[in-house]
Amino acid sequence: MNILDGKKISLDIKSEIKNCVLKNTKKGLRPPHLAAILVGNDGASLTYINSKIKSCDEVGYKSSLYHYNIKISEQELLEKIDELNSNEKIDGYIVQLPLPKHINQNKVINRISPLKDVDGFHPQNFGSMSQGFDSFIPATPHGIIELIERYEIKTSGKSCLVIGRSNIVGRPISILMSQKSKFGNATVTLAHSNTKNLIEISKSADIIISALGIPEFLKSNMVKKGVVVIDVGITRVKDLTKKKGYKIVGDVDFEGVSKKASYITPVPGGVGPMTIAMLLKNTLRARNF
Ligand code: GUN
Repeated sequence: MNILDGKKISLDIKSEIKNCVLKNTKKGLRPPHLAAILVGNDGASLTYINSKIKSCDEVGYKSSLYHYNIKISEQELLEKIDELNSNEKIDGYIVQLPLPKHINQNKVINRISPLKDVDGFHPQNFGSMSQGFDSFIPATPHGIIELIERYEIKTSGKSCLVIGRSNIVGRPISILMSQKSKFGNATVTLAHSNTKNLIEISKSADIIISALGIPEFLKSNMVKKGVVVIDVGITRVKDLTKKKGYKIVGDVDFEGVSKKASYITPVPGGVGPMTIAMLLKNTLRARNF
């Protein structure tokens, strides 16, 4: 069993980005600037946003956080988005999801300028990605592809099971894994809550990417020997032995599944850090560096 060390690879990527920023700032160019909008005080969202901001500092980006009360109106939020779209000093920005129920998420995503949409959520970017055109690719699927690429895992002709059909992970990674490219070309099955006989499908899969959000859902009896497992789950589970009162648990029963897997991502330290690294990479692209 080999660990797909997202923490290590993300540090390599951040170091590459930092060098690129230095090279350009030495020429007198301003560094990339990433902004983030956060609504409310959801614990997990706060943690993600803080990591994203901290990573900006690490690579020499400027960052701005706009943190709003959960009661902000949809109109106020849309006005902030318009302002960020026209602010020439901001190269890219993200709106952390989920948003409170009174705000229409689709309306918000559609309002983001596709040129600054470093999350790759705008339909224009999502459509371009789906057709294999150059575009912003959502950070988590992008991070998964990058991990596969850097570990030179063969995907062509392999059977790949994606569990979960969210617009943030499941749907885009299913598209990328099936695309005609060196690290795609897989035969993809996209499973979701209505899928029947999941265990039959998972037992025959060469690659399993799980983005379900159910702690330790994937057990060793559900996979075959030699499987490649990418665990996107990051659920907080109460654990009073930890200082924070919780631990982070993936979708995969690591203890059991790792005994059969040829490659597996740990949680934490697998896909999570890759997501942030690829958001930084998308921001570099938005800055045209
Ligand atoms: N919520 C969970 N993952 C993400 C992400 O990648 N981007 C944003 N904006 N919100 C998220």
